Amino acid sequence: MKKLIIANWKENPNSITEAVSLAQQIDKGIGKANKAEVVIAPPFPFLSAVGKVLKRAKLGAQNVFWEDKAAHTGEISPRMLKSSGVKYAIIGHSERRRLGETDEMINKKISASLKAELKVILCVGESLNVRRRGLSASKNFVKGQLKKDLKGLHSTFYILHSRIIVAYEPIWAISTNKNARPDKPEDALEMIKLIKQFCHSHFAIRNLPVLYGGSVNSKNAKNFLQYKEIDGALVGGASLKPDEFGKIVNF
Ligand code: PGA
Repeated sequence: MKKLIIANWKENPNSITEAVSLAQQIDKGIGKANKAEVVIAPPFPFLSAVGKVLKRAKLGAQNVFWEDKAAHTGEISPRMLKSSGVKYAIIGHSERRRLGETDEMINKKISASLKAELKVILCVGESLNVRRRGLSASKNFVKGQLKKDLKGLHSTFYILHSRIIVAYEPIWAISTNKNARPDKPEDALEMIKLIKQFCHSHFAIRNLPVLYGGSVNSKNAKNFLQYKEIDGALVGGASLKPDEFGKIVNF
């Protein structure tokens, strides 16, 4: 299976012109070999313009709301995303959880997105405080998130048809370069195996793709992507540098 590499631009860049140019450079850098499936997730205002210039990469959104067409000022529905050419929605990123997004909200967002036939990238991961209590505390924390975030979804058509992807993103490794610790890829591998086993035993999800995210760059990408169990990467900072991102995609 091809690795899945997601470019999460977060609140970048500043203008539509820069966004389009960045997208074009990234798309070109994917190369004819198309070694990986690449998704670019720009901020909402740039989705359509970026979507128009993509030849190889797919379009992703960084967030979504759970209701269609109602009195919810400032929210964007799965259908709106779908009609803008979006194929993937990132849901439950730790930077959104930090702003108050709860597991219950995440659960509703996942359900609505799957119904609209978007592919979901659900982000889970423990904080530094939890990690300090050890790997088994981290495992329990992540299992708790998955239980709540995927609650009630296991028997739906959508999950069974592999529309859900999990990204394991330990919060302490995001934008910190802390994954450079030599033991890190093995720890990530262990967590990812656990996520797959848990989702299989608890939700009957088979062959769940699980990505790694947290300071992935061109130098360390291979440490993670070499494992067949790690199905790809969610890349923040390095996805704003086309050369760097190109190396990750063609690792
Ligand atoms: P980072 O971000 O690669 O800059 O650490 C990853 C993410 O938050 O998705």
